Amino acid sequence: MAKKIHPALETVLASEEQIRERVRELAAELTRVYGSEEVTIISIINGAILFTADLMRLLPNPIRLDCIRISSYRSATRSEGVPKVLQSFQLDVAGRHVLLIDDILDTGKTLALVRQMIRVMNPASLRTCVLLDKKERREVDIEADFAGFSIPNKFVVGYGLDFDERYRNIPCIGVLKPELQTPGAPAVC
Ligand code: IMP
Ligand code: MG
Repeated sequence: MAKKIHPALETVLASEEQIRERVRELAAELTRVYGSEEVTIISIINGAILFTADLMRLLPNPIRLDCIRISSYRSATRSEGVPKVLQSFQLDVAGRHVLLIDDILDTGKTLALVRQMIRVMNPASLRTCVLLDKKERREVDIEADFAGFSIPNKFVVGYGLDFDERYRNIPCIGVLKPELQTPGAPAVC
């Protein structure tokens, strides 16, 4: 029987099973690249929380984890210009193999900003990994070293991604219904 689609979603772009499978593939790629090296993960929160949690527990290497909180969207579905660091990571990254993780690469401003913050601290290596890549919206010249799914220019929620802090707990990734994409819209569950 077909699974019922969450009422906030117009369409599903990646089902729970598809995400699980793709995360497994990404973990295998990362394992090939890093071998048994220790990896310092910097996760851009809140959006990358679920992706980071699922990905890192599939990695056999020693892992250090820290997070950086960035604001870019607040309650709108469009980027508000310059992303702001609300809370930075604390771990030292100098001389470390750093893997920067985000939920989605959109205009590229967020990933470019955090990548530069880490780069000036002289890590041994620095790679980027995103679950979703919205190539059409790119404003900054940046590509992720590892990307889960390439998606069209639609506003998506679920699996950590939100609209106005809602819908992060939807287990799949889907396009948010247009009528729910306005600040003050009711929460649908
Ligand atoms: P960028 O700086 O424009 O690349 O934006 C990246 C950030 O914007 C991501 O970390 C997400 O938090 C957020 N974002 C971009 N597109 C979407 C979307 O379709 N749904 C939810 N959040 C998004
Ligand atoms: Mg984010």
